[in-house]
Amino acid sequence: MFAVYADAPNPDDPMAALVIGERPDPVVPPGWVRVSVRAASVNLHDLWTLRGVGIKAEAFPMILGCDAAGVLDDGTEVVVHPVISTDDWRGDETLDPQRSLLSERHQGTFADQVIVPTRNVVPKPAAMSFAKAACMGKAWLTAYRMLFVKSGMQPGQTMLVQGASGGVSTALIVLGHAAGMRVWVTGRQADKRAVATRLGADQVFESGARLPERVDAVFETVGQATWSHSMRSLRPGGVVVVSGATTGDPTSAELQRLFFLQLRVIGSTMGTRAELADLLSFCEIGHLEPYIGAELPMASADQALRALLEGDAEGKIVLTR
Ligand SMILES: NC(=O)c1ccc[n+]([C@@H]2O[C@H](COP(=O)([O-])OP(=O)(O)OC[C@H]3O[C@@H](n4cnc5c(N)ncnc54)[C@H](OP(=O)(O)O)[C@@H]3O)[C@@H](O)[C@H]2O)c1
Repeated sequence: MFAVYADAPNPDDPMAALVIGERPDPVVPPGWVRVSVRAASVNLHDLWTLRGVGIKAEAFPMILGCDAAGVLDDGTEVVVHPVISTDDWRGDETLDPQRSLLSERHQGTFADQVIVPTRNVVPKPAAMSFAKAACMGKAWLTAYRMLFVKSGMQPGQTMLVQGASGGVSTALIVLGHAAGMRVWVTGRQADKRAVATRLGADQVFESGARLPERVDAVFETVGQATWSHSMRSLRPGGVVVVSGATTGDPTSAELQRLFFLQLRVIGSTMGTRAELADLLSFCEIGHLEPYIGAELPMASADQALRALLEGDAEGKIVLTR
């Protein structure tokens, strides 16, 4: 079948590890289903895979892609939940120490077909396109859990999103606005801040700018470049929810501020299957849509990954079959 994969990792030149070609059709084990992929979205995770980060050397060749929407053999339209827990794990799948994300241990979604455990598909809302549904499993699910499961925010409170145009950031802006939060956003460039405004941000600021007042919660995926600003922006007792560190670990944890202002730092990763179902339902009820900056045929995956690598992406990039 057609597939976009890494033959072997390349830590220094991830694009050199990319192969757009053919891989064997998957065999469907008992308890698993085949999804004929209609759309898949690109994540920074795919660049980590090309670099060999978070994946064992013996797992290659590995088909890229964590996110997908597609059709089961019986015609059911589904969204893939990419957190693969072990068979006997019960409860929150993200807490299974043996869990993996699609394309770490099991082949990913940038292909004609992907196989997943039967529990790892959720029905796609009929009114949601495959392209939009393909954004839900990773960036949007991560944003949903950060905001609604981890932050403890109440409608009417003020949230700061670090980063204006990223996949997780744009999801946080749309979800926060829909839930009645005052959404403040930092972004590095005027055009990216304009994206945030269009999606529902109440105010946008240059990265690192002093805010008019302190906020109830900060949503972090950037890491070193924004961490001190995040800690300085919180009201006493406020919370920073962290799901990524694109620019690496902060040089200072800001411990004095942490204890003196009784701040809370909460980690968040992906979300459960039940949270994905709730997210899809919230999008259906609220007529919410992901911001798709570009939609390309899957055979042009190299263009999509290069845009992500060079910071040229806005919102989500979707690959279609
Ligand atoms: N834990 C999880 O389950 C999980 C799930 C999804 C993603 N993640 C991680 O979260 C991070 C973001 O993912 P994504 O898909 O949203 O990536 P993305 O689409 O590439 O977005 C990156 C964001 O980071 C901001 N940014 C990058 N460098 C910056 C800098 N030097 N200063 C200020 N802002 C900077 C960008 O801001 P501008 O808008 O200003 O360009 C943009 O909003 C990644 O590290 C990813 O691996 C983790």
